[in-house]
Amino acid sequence: MEIKAYMKEARQLTDQRLRELLPTEDTYPQIIHEAMAYSVFAGGKRFRPLLCLASCQAVCGSWEPALDGACALECIHTYSLIHDDLPGMDDDDYRRGKLTNHKVFGDGIAILAGDALLTYAFEILTGLERSVKPEKLLQVIKEISQASGTAGMIGGQVVDIISEQEKPTAQLLQYIHHHKTGALLVASVRTGAILGGADEAQLEALTAYARQLGLAFQITDDILDVVGDEKKLGKPVGSDEKNEKATFPALFGLEQSRKMAQDAVETAIAALEPIGEKGDILTELARYLLEREN
Ligand code: IPE
Ligand code: IPE
Ligand code: MG
Ligand code: MG
Ligand code: MG
Repeated sequence: MEIKAYMKEARQLTDQRLRELLPTEDTYPQIIHEAMAYSVFAGGKRFRPLLCLASCQAVCGSWEPALDGACALECIHTYSLIHDDLPGMDDDDYRRGKLTNHKVFGDGIAILAGDALLTYAFEILTGLERSVKPEKLLQVIKEISQASGTAGMIGGQVVDIISEQEKPTAQLLQYIHHHKTGALLVASVRTGAILGGADEAQLEALTAYARQLGLAFQITDDILDVVGDEKKLGKPVGSDEKNEKATFPALFGLEQSRKMAQDAVETAIAALEPIGEKGDILTELARYLLEREN
C-alpha cells in the first residue's frame, strides 16, 4: 500500500476509536470534555499512533491489537502539546491550525485538560485487560509511564526549559531531543510491538529504529520552526528563536542539521534489517520525515 494511503487509513482509524473512547463533550462538567476534544480533534498527524500500529503490524500482520494503545499514546502526546504551549512554557498562540487550548479555554482549564488526557490514557490502557495478559499489559503501562515521566518526556521538557538562552553542547541537545520527543516515539513503537507479540530480537531491532527516528523527528521539527510554512505547520514559525531554545539549527546550522536528520533516518532504516519485508511501512515512515512539511 502506498505510504500516504496507509497513513490516512491509520489516522482515520485512530480518530474513530478516540471518539469512541473519550467522554463526549456533553458529559458534565462539559467544559473539560470540550477542551480535551478541542485539542485531540484539532487535526494532528497521529504519528505516534501510526508508529504503534505499523510496529504491531510488522510483528503480527495486523494492527488491531495495538489500536487502544495507539489512542492512549495520542492522548499523552496531545496533553504534552497543550502544556508545551502554555505561557509558562513556550507561550504559543497556534497549534494544529487553531488557537492554542489556553487561548480558548484559559490557562486553568488548559492545564486540567492536559492532566485529564494524561490520566485518561492510563484508563484506556486498563481497558486492555479484556484482551491482553496481565504481565504484558503491565509491561506496556510501565513503558508508557516511564517514557512520559522524568526519565523521558518530562525530563526532556525540563532540560529544554532550563537550557533556554544557553549555548548548548551537542550532548545536551541529544539529551533534550531523545527525551522530550524520542522517548514517546520509542514507547509508541515498543507498545505496538509488545501488543503484537514481538520476541526479544524484534523488540531490540524496533527499539534501535525508533531511537534514531525520534532524533530525526525532533531535528526536522527544529528545522521546520526556522523554514516551515505556518499555514502548513499549523503552529508558529520562529517560536524557538523567540524563546532562545537549544535547537539543532541554532547549534549546527540548517544544512548540517538536515544532514544529521538524514543520517539518523538511514541508521533507523538499517536497524530494521532483522524485521525484513514486514518492516517496509516503518521504512517508509522514516523516509517521510525527511520531506514532511508539518
Ligand atoms: C509536535 O509533534 C511536538 C513534538 C514532539 C515535536 P507533532 O509534530 O507530532 O504534532 P502533531 O501531533 O502532528 O500536531
Ligand atoms: C515539544 O517540543 C516537545 C513536547 C514534548 C511537546 P517543541 O516545543 O519544539 O514542540 P512544538 O514545536 O511546540 O510542537
Ligand atoms: Mg517546547
Ligand atoms: Mg513548543
Ligand atoms: Mg518545535
